[in-house]
Amino acid sequence: MLTRARIAVLVSGGGTNLEALLRSQEGGSLSHGEIVLVCSSQPGAYALTRAANHGVPRAVVARSGKSQEAFEAELQEQLTRCQADLIVLAGFMSILSADFVRRWPDRIVNVHPSLIPSFCGKGYYGLRVHEAALARGVKITGATVHLVNEIPDGGRILLQKAVEILPEDTAATLQRRVMEQAEWVLLPQAVETLCKQISEEGAFRS
Ligand code: GAR
Repeated sequence: MLTRARIAVLVSGGGTNLEALLRSQEGGSLSHGEIVLVCSSQPGAYALTRAANHGVPRAVVARSGKSQEAFEAELQEQLTRCQADLIVLAGFMSILSADFVRRWPDRIVNVHPSLIPSFCGKGYYGLRVHEAALARGVKITGATVHLVNEIPDGGRILLQKAVEILPEDTAATLQRRVMEQAEWVLLPQAVETLCKQISEEGAFRS
């Protein structure tokens, strides 16, 4: 039997994308992966409660009050300790350096709440992405799941899904629709595909 890829989910907030992954795991559709750690950059993140409710190991590596190097060293220690094969950024609001990313080629995946290359990059995160889409007047937005690698392959896109913007939308209603129709569907799918590849590579090596 193939071993399942070991997944570390990095979070900072509410954790609805984490919840989608946990439900996929419990429902059997995330069959090639296992969530072995939920690690938050915010001590009070509700995502940690979700992890606890599902009996998944948790850790906090607070971002505030330390250098980027110290933060990433602590993060790396957690990832090494849980023997992670894949890092999922699920609403993780801290920037990772090129040095960190280089250590995990094709092993970091992120979900972003727009159709990249629209509304992405510096300053575009969380609700701000939807505020910007509404301010620009676009009629279609969506979500993107992409790998996080060094430039030039910086953000190879794995999956995208379009979502309609309605005239009465606020940033909050739009965020909810993008999550429901796109993020919570795409992220578990992409993670399962990556875990399948990783577990097959593992089987080939051994
Ligand atoms: C999600 O919409 C996610 O795509 C976004 O933050 C939200 C986190 O929600 N991530 C980014 O903007 C990253 N650039 P969640 O904590 O409920 O999953």
